[in-house]
Amino acid sequence: MSNHRFSPVSEDEPCCNLSQKAKICLGTFCVLVVLTIAVMVGVLWGLPAPKLKEWDGKGTTPNFPEIVLGRCYTYTKVLRPELSHKDCRKIGKAFMDAFLSKDPCSSTERDYQPLLELTNQTVPCNKTLFWSKSSELAHQYTTVQQEMFTLENTLLGYIADGLNWCGDADSSEINYGSCPKMGKQCNDTVFVFWNTVSQRFAENACGVVQVVLNGSISNTFNKNSTFGRVEIYNLRPEKVPTLQAWVMHDIGDRSVACSSSSINDLKLILSNRNIKFTCHDNYR
Ligand SMILES: *[C@@H]1O[C@H](CO)[C@@H](O)[C@H](O)[C@H]1NC(C)=O
Ligand SMILES: *[C@@H]1O[C@H](CO)[C@@H](O)[C@H](O)[C@H]1NC(C)=O
Ligand SMILES: *[C@@H]1O[C@H](CO)[C@@H](O)[C@H](O)[C@H]1NC(C)=O
Ligand SMILES: *[C@@H]1O[C@H](CO)[C@@H](O)[C@H](O)[C@H]1NC(C)=O
Ligand SMILES: *[C@@H]1O[C@H](CO)[C@@H](O)[C@H](O)[C@H]1NC(C)=O
Repeated sequence: MSNHRFSPVSEDEPCCNLSQKAKICLGTFCVLVVLTIAVMVGVLWGLPAPKLKEWDGKGTTPNFPEIVLGRCYTYTKVLRPELSHKDCRKIGKAFMDAFLSKDPCSSTERDYQPLLELTNQTVPCNKTLFWSKSSELAHQYTTVQQEMFTLENTLLGYIADGLNWCGDADSSEINYGSCPKMGKQCNDTVFVFWNTVSQRFAENACGVVQVVLNGSISNTFNKNSTFGRVEIYNLRPEKVPTLQAWVMHDIGDRSVACSSSSINDLKLILSNRNIKFTCHDNYR
């Protein structure tokens, strides 16, 4: 009885049979998987890689997704920790979704809506600063005056500043090779992006808003600039009583831009929109 009970035979046999079957099964499965992968690799190798369309402009900035994510974290965790609740992964994904697998010349404002919603932000009244052909000076100013905001001092403007990007209608890849020339070949996706975010920036402005203009160029107020084309038309007169222009002159330039015809055009547009206008020539 006891011999029988402890005999290994009755327990060992079904065990070994099973594991042998399992081994055979596993072996067959492995062979099948390897074969399938080999066939797939072979097929893909033989197919030409999907060719991305070629454009006249520079391609997407190298490491675009990593830069977007890195800048988002820098802005929300370091520069403006009051926005640390923003979800940078979601923001990064919404940015990619806005242009990947799409023709860069058929981009619309709607493509960027989810991204705009994730990056909404309140700029306090009296703190909005526009600029046109005076980028460097305006940004030097907001670096010193941290409570002032240019578009590039808001989360989304900060993320996208200086970057280029486009996708392709026939591929889900980022096109690092080339993109349409901004605003030249077509109203490309980067152009549409800046129009859309500039429009929102102006719509949200309240109180007295400022603009830094360049008095050392002939069209101090340029109707074709983002400021002249988008921003002034999207200020809300019920929230924005006054626009203050600061016309900056290069050293040695004593011209009086505030009475020039280009500034007069700006004055006229604003007076038609019931926004008061003040202008100051500023000599450095
Ligand atoms: C951003 O949008 C959300 C949802 O619409 C809203 O709850 C939140 O108050 C907004 N935040 C700002 C800063 O406008
Ligand atoms: C904005 O500026 C105007 C004029 O300088 C001032 O009357 C108003 O109180 C300011 N508003 C805020 C919120 O600071
Ligand atoms: C005005 O434009 C000129 C020419 O583009 C540039 O050299 C200069 O730095 C600009 N001035 C300001 C204040 O940005
Ligand atoms: C491109 O954008 C400009 C300015 O927003 C607009 O006037 C023009 O109609 C657009 N062109 C096309 C082809 O969509
Ligand atoms: C604005 O753009 C149009 C068409 O591109 C051009 O003909 C015109 O000269 C430009 N105006 C200014 C002030 O740059």
